[in-house]
Amino acid sequence: MNNFEYANPVHVIFGPGESSRVGSEASKLGKKALLVSYKEHAFFRALLDGVTAQMQQAGMTVTPFFEVTANPLMSQVRAGVVAAQAAGCDVVVAVGGGSAMDSAKMIAAGVLYSGDLWNMIVTRHDHVSAVPPERALPLLMVPTLPATASEMNCGAVVTNEATHEKSYVFAGCLFPKVSIVDPALTATLPAYQTACGAADAISHALETYVNPVGDTPLQDRLIEGVILTTIENVRKALADPSDLAARANLQWSAIVAWNGWTYAGCYGWAPIHQFGHVLSARFNVTHGASLSIFMPAWMKHTLAANTQRYAQFAQRVFGVRAKGKDPQAVALRGIALFEKFLKEIGVPTRLRQAKVDGKKIRLRPADVDAMVADVIRISTSADGCLGSIPKVDREGIRRIFELAH
Ligand SMILES: [Fe+2]
Repeated sequence: MNNFEYANPVHVIFGPGESSRVGSEASKLGKKALLVSYKEHAFFRALLDGVTAQMQQAGMTVTPFFEVTANPLMSQVRAGVVAAQAAGCDVVVAVGGGSAMDSAKMIAAGVLYSGDLWNMIVTRHDHVSAVPPERALPLLMVPTLPATASEMNCGAVVTNEATHEKSYVFAGCLFPKVSIVDPALTATLPAYQTACGAADAISHALETYVNPVGDTPLQDRLIEGVILTTIENVRKALADPSDLAARANLQWSAIVAWNGWTYAGCYGWAPIHQFGHVLSARFNVTHGASLSIFMPAWMKHTLAANTQRYAQFAQRVFGVRAKGKDPQAVALRGIALFEKFLKEIGVPTRLRQAKVDGKKIRLRPADVDAMVADVIRISTSADGCLGSIPKVDREGIRRIFELAH
């Protein structure tokens, strides 16, 4: 295990019905709220109206900013900062999934940030020019999709539409003050969004697992528990969307997957996400779907280096019997069963299956070349490799795209 520091100050209020506390909790943080949610918010209309009414009844003024899209853009963040400054907002409230919450974080920091907002973002992982924000308006999150754990971490991801870079910032000031996690709000999620959220949560746990630093038995079991819990409960939620117990377990496991517990003392970067990000940045593929495409490919490419690790995954998560068997065969069986599960819940496991707005995207060889170049440009270190365990060089990056084809 590596040395580590850990702090997580988020006040989590969890359980069905707890969203009735948004007004009382928000009014403790400020008087003028910027309410951040999606451009396409018909699905959330009643919730947004209810949250607005709660805050107004608590004596607050509310400025709506319903301009966020999936895979949020820097232009939206910039517009949100202008809206918050014009209204003199002193608290930012997000209602939605990771895109709404991440945008709210960047807006909350952007209001108090000097210089170009893109400078907050680490555009390359060996970059030294980024200046993470040190201050932000207080944030209150009302997540509606179990996936990113943005409600209990200090990260935010955004796409610079001018450069096709989807990248991120982590900064202590981006921890929400309060997150009100009400699983009842997720009961009406469409099946595909539910499945994509589960794939994203699994990917967060898996990123640490497939980059082993050694001697992390507790983290291993936490991760395996998160993945098993997600598998069991996404199946239940897809079979019965109104199953609130399953929705609650799904939401809490998604939070634990990326709130810092699983990767304390471990490798903290997320190389599989770099592949998903370039696919989403160029083709607007849903985040979880972009990851379900690359997780099996990543595991196949790194199989030789992490054979024992993946054999453990096969045994503990998918119950593969290993006694007397070749570890590589056990590991491969686990990867195959993982891919089978992803297909079962309806997310793509190959690039050619990726869809946007229900239509398959058509990838030309030149598109794949461009995405390989994007991963190299945005995510490799000075040595030309992804800083993963094992390191993946440029040829390896291309092979992962081939394995995902
Ligand atoms: Fe993610």
